[in-house]
Amino acid sequence: MKIFHTIREVRDHIGEQKREGRTVGFVPTMGFLHKGHLSLVARAKQECDLVVMSIFVNPLQFGPNEDYERYPRDLDRDARLAREAGVDVLFAPPVEEMYPRPSYTYVEVEGLTQSLCGESRPGHFRGVATVVTKLFHIVQPQKAYFGQKDAQQVRVIEQMVEDLNMPVEIVACPIVREPDGLALSSRNVYLSPEERKQALSLYASIREVEKAFAEGERNAARLIQMSVDRIKAEPLAEIDYVRIVNRRTLTDVETIHEPALFALAVRFGKTRLIDNTLLQP
Ligand code: PAJ
Repeated sequence: MKIFHTIREVRDHIGEQKREGRTVGFVPTMGFLHKGHLSLVARAKQECDLVVMSIFVNPLQFGPNEDYERYPRDLDRDARLAREAGVDVLFAPPVEEMYPRPSYTYVEVEGLTQSLCGESRPGHFRGVATVVTKLFHIVQPQKAYFGQKDAQQVRVIEQMVEDLNMPVEIVACPIVREPDGLALSSRNVYLSPEERKQALSLYASIREVEKAFAEGERNAARLIQMSVDRIKAEPLAEIDYVRIVNRRTLTDVETIHEPALFALAVRFGKTRLIDNTLLQP
């Protein structure tokens, strides 16, 4: 595995590989790798000749009171995990390499970014769309792999690629969970043992909703209420949102006639967790 810290070096190397006819699959991450990230690598390896991973904690997508400074970082460990997973090229730029001077240009995906996570994290998706655009221009992959764990992020990136005619195919991959159901996240390390226990209520409530849905419940308000009741049973849980939205427009639905996204965000102390499932009639 080759590790690069500058845009020029990684571009030169990937350019050479592409000229030799290799297809490039790209897995953008913020590091502190876990099995969720590595599942994207596994999928990319199945479909592409050269797998490129980026590790960059992007300041642009963190709000002023968010966890940019304390976001977990461990490049040595990440490099080992990436190598073992079969990553061919690891791109880990310092922040000055990605943002050497103040930018004048940002990518804003309107409409899809105001609701759900966009509501409590203004500017977050502008930061994501902008850095992903920069990374796509640097890596120039044929395919890029994203986790369905961040369902709104996938939707925003898909729309951005479509609207701006970016020559890359977006591949969405399933959520990877701990054996007890908690969705893997780099932020799980923030949880105290008690918070970790109570955080199981997210997936527990998702399963209850899936069950009621499978048994025929199509009323969104009632499904949401079930989930809210389950999560509120945990004293440390503070609900940010629990919503059922159209999977394309991300606007609320009342009755589920077509595939809808059931998505939730819950705070435990300073840690904000998200999870979701697709409800398919
Ligand atoms: P990060 O949170 O590091 O996640 C990198 C990729 O891993 C994302 O596509 C995310 O959806 C996926 N992922 C995280 N947890 C997962 C899980 N449990 N199962 C499956 N996939 C999972 O998302 C970002 O970084 C950033 O916003 C980024 C796209 C890199 C832009 O900065």
